[in-house]
Amino acid sequence: MPFRVIGIESSCDETAVALVEDGRLVSNRVATQEIHARWGGVVPELASRLHQKTLSLMVQETLADAGWSLSQLDGVAATRGPGLIGALLVGLSYAKGLATALNIPLAGVNHLEGHLWAVEAGGETLSLPALGLLVSGGHTELIRIDGFGKYTYLGGTLDDAAGEAFDKVGGLLGIPYPAGAKLSKLAEGGDPSKHPFAVATTQSPFDFSYSGLKSAAMREIKRLETERDGEEWRADVAASFQDAVIVQLLLRADRALENDSYRSLMIGGGVAANKLLRRRLEGLARRHNVSLLVPPFEFCTDNAAMIAYVGYRMLQERGADSLEIEADPNLSLVPEW
Ligand code: KG4
Ligand code: ZN
Repeated sequence: MPFRVIGIESSCDETAVALVEDGRLVSNRVATQEIHARWGGVVPELASRLHQKTLSLMVQETLADAGWSLSQLDGVAATRGPGLIGALLVGLSYAKGLATALNIPLAGVNHLEGHLWAVEAGGETLSLPALGLLVSGGHTELIRIDGFGKYTYLGGTLDDAAGEAFDKVGGLLGIPYPAGAKLSKLAEGGDPSKHPFAVATTQSPFDFSYSGLKSAAMREIKRLETERDGEEWRADVAASFQDAVIVQLLLRADRALENDSYRSLMIGGGVAANKLLRRRLEGLARRHNVSLLVPPFEFCTDNAAMIAYVGYRMLQERGADSLEIEADPNLSLVPEW
């Protein structure tokens, strides 16, 4: 008998629903909440309200895409953290309602664990041990993956996430939120050596820090805005800033690959769309003789395919969660983290 799981993701500003059968993706929908662009970042209360407005209909549509009915579901998975508490509560409460009404098991999924398995949710096999580099608006994490549930947290950002830095500096350059993709486009026409920004040092060799870079870029932009007439300097600042973000990511990944043995380097999160980052990581992977695995772009950014996939594995390998599990905005991947 096939085992069918519905996955629900609502940790930030994407409402997403996906269906997997025996771990294979059957249908997948994502609705990005565009409204936050007006405020230059995600407004938590608006995110919760929109998840609540959208989710029921999306569940119906995703089931219709697959030609499934609710009664054919064997399990329900939802993100329980980390993320925005109000947003998480919408998806997790909905999932508890489904689990209760259908009398099927519930899996409360760690969003980061979802990202770690996005490659497999996309149909590829993750060759283990893998070094996972998660870079998005909410995460900058370096994690060793030895198997399902076998993770070692190596390091993460001490302040801003890499994508958040792209968004904030992009905003100062006049680019609307989310600014990463447009900032990197602007950077294509700029000289990365024009404004050499320092790469932060951190106590742990695998941690990240972007707040100093953000402040330095802000000071440089303010200075150039008053001193220069034309607009050309903007591309140079964008290129120099992007380079500094990427160099820091590469340095940490390089150290981790140097420090231990791996078979693959996996990158996920919205910033994984950055072409320059991908190119440089390809070079790094080649040098360390590991394969570079990047999920399809729609599985790099927040999605429910990865949540449904991890939920399926949890229900098969760890058993159901209690209906009393709570949403946790600071949920960690490994207990001692
Ligand atoms: O994973 P994601 O959709 O959402 C979360 O933050 O969880 O990632 C979105 C982030 C934004 O900060 C956006 O600016 C950044 O990914 N991003 C990029 C690029 N495309 C998206 N950053 C740099 N270069 C890009 N091409
Ligand atoms: Zn995410």
